[in-house]
Amino acid sequence: MQFSVAALTAADFDEWVVLRGQLWPHHPIEEHRSDAQELLGRGERAAVFVARASGALIGFAEATLRVDYVNGTSTSPVTFLEGLYVSPRCRRNGVARSLCKAVERWGSRAGCTEFASDALVENEEGHAVHEALGFREIERVVYFLKPIDLDAT
Ligand SMILES: CC(C)(COP(=O)(O)OP(=O)(O)OC[C@H]1O[C@@H](n2cnc3c(N)ncnc32)[C@H](O)[C@@H]1OP(=O)(O)O)[C@@H](O)C(=O)NCCC(=O)NCCS
Repeated sequence: MQFSVAALTAADFDEWVVLRGQLWPHHPIEEHRSDAQELLGRGERAAVFVARASGALIGFAEATLRVDYVNGTSTSPVTFLEGLYVSPRCRRNGVARSLCKAVERWGSRAGCTEFASDALVENEEGHAVHEALGFREIERVVYFLKPIDLDAT
């Protein structure tokens, strides 16, 4: 399969939002649109790369420069893979590999020497892809949350 990878342009915006909706289907499309705008609003601290085949957008990678602590890293900022998606019919053709390479080049130009990512514990496919792309697992964590309620004991 022939495809090309490039930095997102304004013309890609609507198709990117649709693909975001496929990756994270539990969020309404309006929320994807505003989150996408917010990401672009970060300027040099975020990047989106898209893959095209036969004129259609078939995948994307979103990345940021994270300055808060990222598990396992020893430098700051680090390049962080925030989202990676390839349309089902186009998988296993090296599209995700090319998108991640583009992110890695961007992060390197921004001065980063580490590229980090995360995946849900149950996403074993995602883990396998990360390892195939050269990432190694650092640790598994459980997040906790409680509302601040000073009257509760
Ligand atoms: C994960 C995903 C982006 C991979 O996209 P892709 O274009 O098919 O990946 P590539 O073809 O570039 O493959 C990259 C490497 O991962 C491996 N790989 C891809 N899919 C895999 C799978 N389902 N299981 C195991 N390994 C897999 C490939 O073999 C390749 O390694 P290799 O070159 O050593 O053979 C795609 O399956 C997807 O969008 N999945 C749903 C969303 C998701 O899980 N995103 C990642 C969240 S962590």
